[in-house]
Amino acid sequence: MTSILMVCLGNICRSPLAHGILESKLPSDFFYVDSAGTANYHVGDYPDHRSIAVAKLNGINIANQRGRQFKLSDFDSFDFIYTMDESNYKNVIALARNNNDFAKVKCILEVDESIQISNVPDPYYGDMSDFQSVFQLLEKACNSLSYKLLETRL
Ligand code: 4NP
Repeated sequence: MTSILMVCLGNICRSPLAHGILESKLPSDFFYVDSAGTANYHVGDYPDHRSIAVAKLNGINIANQRGRQFKLSDFDSFDFIYTMDESNYKNVIALARNNNDFAKVKCILEVDESIQISNVPDPYYGDMSDFQSVFQLLEKACNSLSYKLLETRL
């Protein structure tokens, strides 16, 4: 089993989308996908209703997810940890205990060289069009990531 963790700040907007999108592209008997936030503001919460809506419009159900905070043992439980932006990256890297932990963490948009920006913009204070843009960006990144994972892991 290969395991992948998606990380953002609150675990209610971006990482639940990345979690749902990547999960939809990989066979569940070989891959486990989860998400977490670096902050504890939304532990136990449903994803933001706008993330649920944009996922649903694209045929993906994320309504069963619940927010949780990133924890040290995630470095042991996951093979790959993808952060949504450089701020999340710094927060996760600050907890790394050794080079092995450090090597597991990357910013998600680095997986696709054709994506010219580094950060998935935080849509929390935005509107539905911001959530649509985030979905499209994550769809593209997760498409590339799923090809890479399937190539190397199956
Ligand atoms: P996320 O967005 O990191 O994509 O889940 C946010 C959600 C909540 C907050 C900030 C960002 N907040 O400040 O509560």
